Amino acid sequence: MHATASETMERLDEGIADLSRFRDQARPGWTREVFSDPYRDSRTWTVQRMKDAGLEVIIDNAGNIVGRLAGRTPSAPAIVTGSHTDTVDGGGRFDGIVGVLGGIEAARVLRESGTRLDHDLLVVDFLGEESNAFGLSCLGSRSAAGELTAEDLDRQDYRGLRLGQAYTQYGLDPNKLTDVPWARQRLKAFIELHIEQGPTLQERGLPLGVVTAITGIERFIATFTGSADHAGTRAMHDRRDAMVAAAEAVLAVRAEGCGAPTHGVATSTRVESESRSPNVVPSLVHMHSEVRSVDPTWLSGVKGRLTREIAAKAAESGVDVEFDWSTDNPIVNADPGVQDIAASAADTLGIPWMPIPSGATHDAVHMATLAPMGMIFVPSKDGKSHCPEEWTDTADIALGIEALVQTITNLDGPAGR
Ligand code: GLV
Ligand code: MN
Ligand code: MN
Repeated sequence: MHATASETMERLDEGIADLSRFRDQARPGWTREVFSDPYRDSRTWTVQRMKDAGLEVIIDNAGNIVGRLAGRTPSAPAIVTGSHTDTVDGGGRFDGIVGVLGGIEAARVLRESGTRLDHDLLVVDFLGEESNAFGLSCLGSRSAAGELTAEDLDRQDYRGLRLGQAYTQYGLDPNKLTDVPWARQRLKAFIELHIEQGPTLQERGLPLGVVTAITGIERFIATFTGSADHAGTRAMHDRRDAMVAAAEAVLAVRAEGCGAPTHGVATSTRVESESRSPNVVPSLVHMHSEVRSVDPTWLSGVKGRLTREIAAKAAESGVDVEFDWSTDNPIVNADPGVQDIAASAADTLGIPWMPIPSGATHDAVHMATLAPMGMIFVPSKDGKSHCPEEWTDTADIALGIEALVQTITNLDGPAGR
C-alpha cells in the first residue's frame, strides 16, 4: 500500500472516531438528528475539518456546509461531491459520513498531490438528509434544488412544531432556504460516495458499486377509526377494533413488498393507538408505512392496490380508514455518462465493481435535478445500516476514495468534457 493510502486510512479512522463523539447520549447508537444540539456542535467540527484540508468554507442559506477547492478556470462549472453527517435515531457512524469525510479527503489528496483541477471542486455536507420528525428527508439538497415548498415548511412533528419553526430555532431563515447561489450556477456533475447499506457487495466479494438508480419512496399514514368499548364486556364478534384493522394492514403492506416482481420493499414503521388505557378496545389508530422500488410499474400501482386492500379488510372489521399519502422522492436514474466515468475510474485503478441499484435514498436524488448525477458504493458489513452495528472497513472506504478521486479527475479532464 502506498503512503497516501495509509495516511488516508489513519485520517479516516481518526475522523470517524472524532465525529462519533457528537451524539445524543440519551439515545442508543450514534444518534445525531438534524436540528439537535449534538448535530449543531458536530457541524463546527466539520467546518474545521474542511478548513484543515485546505478548503474555503461557507454555510449556505439552506444550512449546507460547502467547502471549495478552487479550480484553474473560474468560469468552468463546479464538480460537486458530498453527503450528510446527520444520523437516524439509534444510527451508526458511516451512513453519509463516509461521503463527507471521503469528499474532504479526496479534495485533500488532490491538493497535496499538486493536481490542480480545471473546475472548482465543491464538497458539501448537506443539512439533515435522514427522514425526520416532519417526515421529510434530504432537507439541504432539496433546498439547494429549489424543491423545498411552503407546504413542506408547514409540516408538523408530533409536538405540533412546524418545520419552518424548527429552521428558525436552528438559526436559519425559512424564507431564504432555496436561495443557494452555488446551486443556481451551472454544475458539471454530482458524484456521491456512500456505504451500500445492504449486503450485495459483501456477498459478491466486490469492493465497489456504481449506482444505476435510486429507489422511489411512497409513504402513507393510515388512520383507522373503530369504536371504543369495554375490553372486558364487548363480545369478540361485536367489536370495531381499530388495532385489529391496523394489524391486518401491516400484513397487507408486507405482502405487497413480498409480491414485487423485481425490486420492491414495504415496511410499516409505527402503529399508535390514541387510547392509553389497557382495558379499552382501540377506536383510533395511526399507522405509518413506506414502500420503495426502482421498478416504476410496480411502484406506481402500489398506492391504488394498498388503499383498496387495506380499506376492504378494515371494512370487514367495521372500521373506517383514511389515507394520507406522500411521495418522499420519485425513482431517479443515475446519469449514464457519470456511471461510465465512475466505472472506467474503477477499471483504471483495477478495482472490481458492479452496477447496483440503491434501496436507500440520498442527497443525490435532488442533486440530479441540478447536474448529471452518479454514486459510488462501498460495502456494508453484513448489509447492516441505520443501526449501531453499521460498519465498513477503513480499507474499503479508502478504495472508495481512490475511485472518487479518479472519477473527479476524469470528470475534470478530457474524459469529462
Ligand atoms: C435514508 O437513508 C433512507 O433511505 O431513508
Ligand atoms: Mn445516507
Ligand atoms: Mn440513512
